[in-house]
Amino acid sequence: MSIIELRQVSKTYGIKKNRYSAVNNVSFRIEPGEFLGIMGPSGAGKSTLLNMASTLDFPTSGTVLLNGKVTTGLNERKLADFRKNKSGYIFQDFSLLENLTVQENIELPLLADHVAAREVWRRVRQVAQLLLLESVLNHYPSELSVGQKQRVAAGRAIIKRPAIIFADEPTGSLDSRSATELLQFLSEVNQKEQTTIMMVTHDPFTASYCKRIIFVRDGQIFSEINRAESRQDFFEKIINMQAVIGGGPKR
Ligand SMILES: Nc1ncnc2c1ncn2[C@@H]1O[C@H](COP(=O)(O)OP(=O)(O)OP(=O)(O)O)[C@@H](O)[C@H]1O
Ligand SMILES: [Mg+2]
Repeated sequence: MSIIELRQVSKTYGIKKNRYSAVNNVSFRIEPGEFLGIMGPSGAGKSTLLNMASTLDFPTSGTVLLNGKVTTGLNERKLADFRKNKSGYIFQDFSLLENLTVQENIELPLLADHVAAREVWRRVRQVAQLLLLESVLNHYPSELSVGQKQRVAAGRAIIKRPAIIFADEPTGSLDSRSATELLQFLSEVNQKEQTTIMMVTHDPFTASYCKRIIFVRDGQIFSEINRAESRQDFFEKIINMQAVIGGGPKR
């Protein structure tokens, strides 16, 4: 069963003359264990799609299904459970809490769950090791490099071992080395733990880590490519598709 399915989903903003269609009749599925990328020019509707798939936003029309169940039929508790316990989020601006240390930021999602302190510490150590954050656990976000901040955000997103990670331009503010580290980490979580990933990006290098990419333009699916070849060849394929789709903003 698909972990997420969008059926003829549309999202419009404004009313009457100012009505604006950000996403127009889009359907696709995300299967468990996938590493799906969403690409397309600025304003194409990528973030809007991600937000609807993650239930942070709702379509104007059409249906979103979680594990085969229509989200509008789920009560608030079920939705909150999905957002809090089954999904992890990585956004471009990290949204770390400045008054908490790195360790406190990472363990935050576990605190509401009454997880035993020893278990919290065990998992924080594991995540910190994986993300090379052991030496900065007692530091505050203001003392970190941009790449370290992004890794803390990634740590917070995976500490609960979510079934799916939603990432919107996760490498947007990273230098290439930090970006590569984060992407290798995401690939590892995807391969070793079968964590499903949906990642929005406009960067071909970042996208080359995906196994499948859906290209959107003007709120619609333009095309889709699957990775069968090496990452380098997939990268070329992505560049070629970008050339076809054009980078210009929506008029
Ligand atoms: N809250 C909103 N109110 C009105 N229009 C919106 C709102 N959110 C998004 N839009 C519009 O919907 C369209 C799609 O926006 P979206 O953020 O999904 O694009 P995107 O593909 O993520 O772009 P970018 O690459 O720049 O992040 C844009 O034209 C945007 O201006
Ligand atoms: Mg966006």
